[in-house]
Amino acid sequence: MMIQNYYESAYQAYPESRPLNEVLEEAERNARGLYNYVLEIKTQFMPDKNWEDMTILETGGGHGGLSFLLAKLGASVVNIDFSHSAIEMSKRLIEFSGAKVKAEIADVTHPDIQFNQKFDIIVDSHLLHCITGNADRTSYYQTLKESLKTDGIFVCETMVYKKSLFIPDGFMFDPQFVLWQRFGEWTPIRKILDSLDLESELKNAGLEIIFFYYYAHFAFVPHAQFMDLPTDILPASVRFVVRNKAE
Ligand SMILES: C[S@@+](CC[C@H](N)C(=O)[O-])C[C@H]1O[C@@H](n2cnc3c(N)ncnc32)[C@H](O)[C@@H]1O
Repeated sequence: MMIQNYYESAYQAYPESRPLNEVLEEAERNARGLYNYVLEIKTQFMPDKNWEDMTILETGGGHGGLSFLLAKLGASVVNIDFSHSAIEMSKRLIEFSGAKVKAEIADVTHPDIQFNQKFDIIVDSHLLHCITGNADRTSYYQTLKESLKTDGIFVCETMVYKKSLFIPDGFMFDPQFVLWQRFGEWTPIRKILDSLDLESELKNAGLEIIFFYYYAHFAFVPHAQFMDLPTDILPASVRFVVRNKAE
C-alpha cells in the first residue's frame, strides 16, 4: 500500500455527517498540547514579535486543529497536508469558522514544493516520523530551510527509538529504524530514529538546533495496534526547535 493511501483511507473513514462544530472542537482539543508548546517556544525565542505580524506554516496538519488555534492569536496560518480528504475537511472548517487559515494540498517530500511567502514559524506535529525514506527526509529539510524567514524557526514534536521498543505481529523494525506494517505487502510507515541520530540528521541537513528535549516517559503510540502496550516499551518523544545556520 502507498503511504499516501494509508492516510487517505484513515481520513475517509471519518464520519462525513458529523456536525462541523464538533469536528472543529475535537481538532482543537487534540492540538492543545502542541499549541501550548508553540506558545512557550515563541515566548522563549521570539518574545518581541507580535502574533498579528507572524506567518505560520503547519506541515502535515490534517484537519488543522493547531492551525485554527494559532490563527486565533492573530497569525496568518497555512495548513498543508498531502491527504485530499484532510484538506477538504480543513477547508470546510475554515469556511464554517471564518478562521484566518489557508489549507492546501502539498507533499513536503516533493522537491519542487514552493510557497509564495516565507514563514516565521513552521510547526510539525507528528509528521516527521511519517517520512521513512532518507531522500524524502532530506528533501523535507531542504524545503524547511528555503521556507523559513532569516530568523524563522522550525518547531517539531516527534517519536524516537527506545531499546525496549516492542514490535507486535504484523509489523517489523529494520536496521535503518524504519517500522513496517504488513498490508498484504510490507509498507514502511514510521521512521523511529534514535534521538542521537535525529540530532545528527538535523545538523547534517544544515540546521542549527536551539532546543532539543527528550521525554523518556512521554510515550508515543506509533499505530492503533500499539495502543494497549505499557509506556516503557513504546517509543519516547522529542520536542526540538531548529533554525537555519547563520551564513
Ligand atoms: C500522524 S498524522 C499527524 C496529524 C496532525 N498533525 C496531528 O498531530 O494530529 C501525520 C499527518 O501528516 C500527513 N503527511 C504524511 N506524510 C506527508 C507528506 N509527505 N506531505 C504532507 N503531509 C504528509 C498525513 O496525511 C497526516 O495528516
